[in-house]
Amino acid sequence: RSSLGKTTDLVGRRIIVTAGPTVEPIDPVRFISNHSSGLQGYAIASALAAKGADVRLVSGPVSLPTPPSVQRINVRTAEDMKAACLEQLPADAAICVAAVSDWRPESVSNRKMKKSADGPPTLILRENPDILATLSQMKERPTLVIGFAAETDDLRKHAEQKRRRKGCDWLLANDVSKHRFGGHRNQVLFLTEMGTEDWPEMDKSALAERLSEQVVAFFQKQG
Ligand code: CTP
Ligand code: CA
Repeated sequence: RSSLGKTTDLVGRRIIVTAGPTVEPIDPVRFISNHSSGLQGYAIASALAAKGADVRLVSGPVSLPTPPSVQRINVRTAEDMKAACLEQLPADAAICVAAVSDWRPESVSNRKMKKSADGPPTLILRENPDILATLSQMKERPTLVIGFAAETDDLRKHAEQKRRRKGCDWLLANDVSKHRFGGHRNQVLFLTEMGTEDWPEMDKSALAERLSEQVVAFFQKQG
């Protein structure tokens, strides 16, 4: 281990990380989106790159610098994020940290919508593609697929259901009613097919380090 905390444990491993929100346009001046600072995803990308991984950070709009030795691909919509992820395949692992908008406006007005005496417009929404489920369930899938889950209630139950429904290997579930968005701390349940671990509250960078150590251990066992 060098003085910079760098190792070569993940050299030769390509890892896709999604991070940040997606934004879904309504018209040229408006969009719908989710809360997401991108901090957790960027911390994970940074920790993996420090272990030598070839990190492809597919990022929605955030105001964070690109971590050293990380290849960043900027996207805006969920559909663009999905396409950018598929372009990075084949990959050894994929870690979906992005807060993807579940829905997008069915049609995008190419002119600014104006207020009118008829009252506010009605938005018709379509469901966006599920990037984590796509990466988990495709034929030439990354060996290790990891998701996050943001829940406000029944954390364990919803997280276990979500891991099975999506088909991902690991899921990190956090209670978003406890931790304000944009904060530097996080607390998760770590779910695998082996069971569930309750990780203590820690800095997002410490969580990133702990997760990347688990990734290293996974690939060491794989050989
Ligand atoms: N995710 C994704 N693509 C989507 C929606 C979610 O890749 N269209 C990923 C997120 O990056 C996260 C995981 O799926 O890793 C869980 O996201 P979450 O919003 O908690 O789950 P959903 O399946 O969207 O369920 P819901 O929002 O209804 O709880
Ligand atoms: Ca969602």
